[in-house]
Amino acid sequence: MMRSARGFLLSAGVAMMLAGTSHVHAGGTVEVLHWWTSGGEARAVGELKQSFEDQGGTWIDSPIAGGGGDAAMTALRARVVAGNPPTAVQLKGPGIQEWAVEGAVADVEDVAAAEGWDDVLPPALAEIMKFDGKYVAAPVNIHRVDWIWANPELLAQVDADVPTSWDEFNTTAEKLMEAGITPLAHGGQPWQDATVFEVVALGLGGADFFRAALVELDMDALNSDTMIQVFDQMRKMRSYVDPGFSGRDWNLATSMVMNGEAAFQIMGDWAKGEFLAGGKVPGEDFLCAPAPGNAFILNSDSFVMFNVRGDDRIEGQQVLASLIMSPEFQETFNLAKGSIPARVDVSLDAFDICAQRSHDDLTAAIAADTLVPSMAHEMAVSRSVRGEFLDVVTEHFNSDMSSQEAVDRLVAAIQRAM
Ligand code: BGC
Repeated sequence: MMRSARGFLLSAGVAMMLAGTSHVHAGGTVEVLHWWTSGGEARAVGELKQSFEDQGGTWIDSPIAGGGGDAAMTALRARVVAGNPPTAVQLKGPGIQEWAVEGAVADVEDVAAAEGWDDVLPPALAEIMKFDGKYVAAPVNIHRVDWIWANPELLAQVDADVPTSWDEFNTTAEKLMEAGITPLAHGGQPWQDATVFEVVALGLGGADFFRAALVELDMDALNSDTMIQVFDQMRKMRSYVDPGFSGRDWNLATSMVMNGEAAFQIMGDWAKGEFLAGGKVPGEDFLCAPAPGNAFILNSDSFVMFNVRGDDRIEGQQVLASLIMSPEFQETFNLAKGSIPARVDVSLDAFDICAQRSHDDLTAAIAADTLVPSMAHEMAVSRSVRGEFLDVVTEHFNSDMSSQEAVDRLVAAIQRAM
């Protein structure tokens, strides 16, 4: 029998230790910089704020609007340069290490050790949260990027199901267009273009190709026929969006699927947070289906503690870290956010079919070694390399650039950035 993904790394001894887990309870102050401003995101971060305040803490909210967090990261840089960093920052992947190397982050190792975080987090995730062997961040969730969200009524109008290959996607998209329906809800922003791009890359090339090209930056993979096909498919995707796509926020694209203005959206499961915030029911009002590829693109949000002065702030960091990792919080937060808990020992009984599917596919992907980190969502490569991907993908999407030229530019850009 297959072991559960989150149970995968949880040894029996550890489970016993958990019984004795203690959580920090006190006050403190945190200023939290984050980019969770859409309906579903605000609901989720509201849970964190409320729980922190319930423990007697003072929460200073610093939201920086902009899906994918690019604006938030610019604001963070300015704050650190000015010598005035926030207490805790929504930040993830290699970015955590980049800030740690600059000496900008503080550790919460005492809390992590006392609460046995090592024993309840998948090791790959725990590694990302640490610098020099000490925890400097606390993970809130596991998001999956490779999803197709669909409006069932629009699909019924053309007698189609959610596609399971990109060929099928194209056939259905043509049918939808003939029926006067916009196939793809999309927001033309570089991170959204890159989200679609990496999902297409996974579907056409598989996990090994994804890993070689988008994680290991292997020149043969970047400069391959498969990459040409990926850009060919991106050109098709461009023809499936409505004329108003440029600059649109991702949650407005989700609303289009919700309101019957478009059939599909390719987006991570934070989109589910929007459907749920809109009172919609998965499997009835909207469909969630893994995008082609038979794998799992991982994106995990975390809060990183920055170097701040003052006992009140330091206490705030410890309370926040402990709270984020508490099983109760991991459940309530993720029910609102659309993701699944980062902790392996939280039951999924209260979660919906999309979350159950995410967990099952994560389990299968770990077993088959097809779990890959998201390039578009800063889990795979440095910010500068990601920036090069985004530039080429967006330029190609918004012009008549050939696939060959896009590949040539990509290869040159990545070589420059490495
Ligand atoms: C984050 C999500 C967020 C999404 C849209 C992703 O990079 O991981 O938490 O909801 O961007 O803003």
